Amino acid sequence: MATLRLGDIAPDFEQESSLGKIRFHEWLGDSWGVLFSHPADFTPVCTTELGLTAKLKKELEKRNVKVIALSVDPVESHQKWIEDINDTQDCQVNFPIIADADRKVSELYDMIHPNANATQTVRSVFVIDPNKKVRLTLTYPASTGRNFNELLRVIDSLQLTEYHSVATPGNWKDGDDVVIVPSLQDPDVIKQKFPKGYRALRPYLRMTPQPNK
Ligand code: BEZ
Repeated sequence: MATLRLGDIAPDFEQESSLGKIRFHEWLGDSWGVLFSHPADFTPVCTTELGLTAKLKKELEKRNVKVIALSVDPVESHQKWIEDINDTQDCQVNFPIIADADRKVSELYDMIHPNANATQTVRSVFVIDPNKKVRLTLTYPASTGRNFNELLRVIDSLQLTEYHSVATPGNWKDGDDVVIVPSLQDPDVIKQKFPKGYRALRPYLRMTPQPNK
């Protein structure tokens, strides 16, 4: 599989997981999705990442996001590892972990980077929208745990663009002003979408309060 690019349809697959067989597109339904890979079971950084993800359950539900993890170990190993994660991270892993022992999904999503490690996946993240389009890709090295607050921030930004026609400036955080997307030019639509008004610092740089606040 060639590298997945933004806007591509996330490939569908059927694979075993810690919660039974998953048909990916059917499992996603009309939710947003996060698919993220882990080098292997019983590794320290992954253990912390999965604990953090379990604790984000409410935040993810608020955003209509389903999460699914992957590592290239079998289901029985995942089940034992989940006990460790729950115990050491004080959480309940409440999402499936794909058991990709045959690397079917890892290869489909280009998660194995042989010059980094020939047998384990790197830390990939794919954010997928309800139309099954890939909206974000991230690739982190095995030794660096990902920032899950950043992941929520990007999902918020993507959903603001999708549902409110705004983009988010550099270092934006929830509640900060946002920018009206340049493609939106019709004054009547702008008035209707942004009743709080906007400040045009330049014709192409129009700041407005975050619409869903
Ligand atoms: C891990 O926890 O997955 C890990 C830790 C150090 C180096 C590489 C991987």
